[in-house]
Amino acid sequence: MPKKGWTTGQNLLILAENVKILVLSVIFKFQIIKIFMKTLIKDVSKYVGQEVEIKGWLYNKRSSGPIAFLELRDGTGWIQAVAVKKDFADNIWDEMDKVGQESSVDVVGVVSKHPKHEGVFELQVKDFKIIQSAVDYPIALKEHGPDFLLDNRHLWLRSKRQWAILRVRDAIITAINEYLHQEGFVRTDSPIFTPNACEGTTTLFPVPYFDEGTAYLSQSGQLYLEAIIGSVGRCYDFGPVFRAEKSKTKRHLTEFWMMDAEGAFVEHEENLKIQEGLVRHVVRYCLEHCQEELRVLERDVEKLKQADAPFVRYTYDEAIKKLNELGSDIKYGEDLGNDDEGLLTKDSVVPVFIERWPKSIKPFYMKRDPENAELVLNDDLIATEGGGELIGGSQREDNADLLIERIQKEGLNQADYEWYLDIRRYGSVPHSGFGIGLERAVRWVCGIEHVRETIPFPRTIGRLKP
Ligand code: 4AD
Ligand code: MG
Repeated sequence: MPKKGWTTGQNLLILAENVKILVLSVIFKFQIIKIFMKTLIKDVSKYVGQEVEIKGWLYNKRSSGPIAFLELRDGTGWIQAVAVKKDFADNIWDEMDKVGQESSVDVVGVVSKHPKHEGVFELQVKDFKIIQSAVDYPIALKEHGPDFLLDNRHLWLRSKRQWAILRVRDAIITAINEYLHQEGFVRTDSPIFTPNACEGTTTLFPVPYFDEGTAYLSQSGQLYLEAIIGSVGRCYDFGPVFRAEKSKTKRHLTEFWMMDAEGAFVEHEENLKIQEGLVRHVVRYCLEHCQEELRVLERDVEKLKQADAPFVRYTYDEAIKKLNELGSDIKYGEDLGNDDEGLLTKDSVVPVFIERWPKSIKPFYMKRDPENAELVLNDDLIATEGGGELIGGSQREDNADLLIERIQKEGLNQADYEWYLDIRRYGSVPHSGFGIGLERAVRWVCGIEHVRETIPFPRTIGRLKP
């Protein structure tokens, strides 16, 4: 009925709206179009007894005569889908029977509780579509050699174990961001192309840089953060750093991710306190948020729980004496190798700080110990269970003259560091910071042997692909 005082256009619009409502009611009443709830596997527990649609990949498949068991994954989890032959037209059953591992699929089914396992759900398949059919997926669900897996890293990432590691990595990043913000640190970024070394000239990666000569890929953003604290007081960066490390070990990458934190008016003691707080927060966060991932990785979580307690501290001097008692032939003035780190921490359930090292084996920027001019106010934090060095940190030399002395002694070009010296010339303050290697942290929390599994596409001396 046209309304009085309304224009024809307005009346037509109302009519169109009424027709739309009528058509939609008919569609729903008679289920002319069937609408399924598109669901993520992690959420299926909310839909027991209901029909849902899951889009993902076929992880594994086995069939016993008239029943097929399809293991599906969608990035959020895994679920077993059960299909019974009599429920399907022959052509669809054939597709299901032949579908290859890692094909992408769209499956509709009713969610049910697993008959035997509490908290486990299944999907009773009602409809099945292949999005893309994968033929002869190269990685079978059996043991493969590490080189083969690394060559196929782009596919290997789909395995359950790699899924778990990727998620723990994400949790550690989140935990680090959370803790530092709680402690008043501002997230910032430091450059990758740099004109000078931060951590010694022997591990620099040179890159031709237009008319400016050679740039070097950053080894750590630390020096830049020391400038940025002049603005915001406390800050941190989190990004890729590069080291032309010749060492072929289970802990070294040539490209890895580092979080460097820096704080104005933070001195040595407080620096250690912040580091301990950070690592314990990371452990607690992962224990709370990564239970499924740590189970997949068969991580002994009791050991991780024990690590969330006050850390042990040795001075470098004490560490060398203890190592000699334990049978190591390390001499005072030498850096600790992997074996020494393992030996020193083997009986400790918590990470161990080694502080106040000889300045001769540490970088130029570390502040000399006021109690012994041969030492610096620094620390290495060594993880438990053979996790090795997680963190390197120090109070920074804030006196311009002493810093120039160290720059010259190390044979560095002072002109390259003039900007860095300005930080000491204009309102110098005591300050400290540290850097945590993300992959080392992932390796330790996951309890895995080789750092190459802790980053999606590892770069080592012998590997640049894929
Ligand atoms: O001890 P490093 O060399 O300290 C620094 O770079 C300082 N500038 C950090 C700072 O004070 N802001 O490196 C810090 C951490 C190490 O403790 C280790 O966890 C990790 O970075 N790391 C590596 N991780 C993987 N592969 C490598 N080649 C690594 N070298 C260091
Ligand atoms: Mg170090």
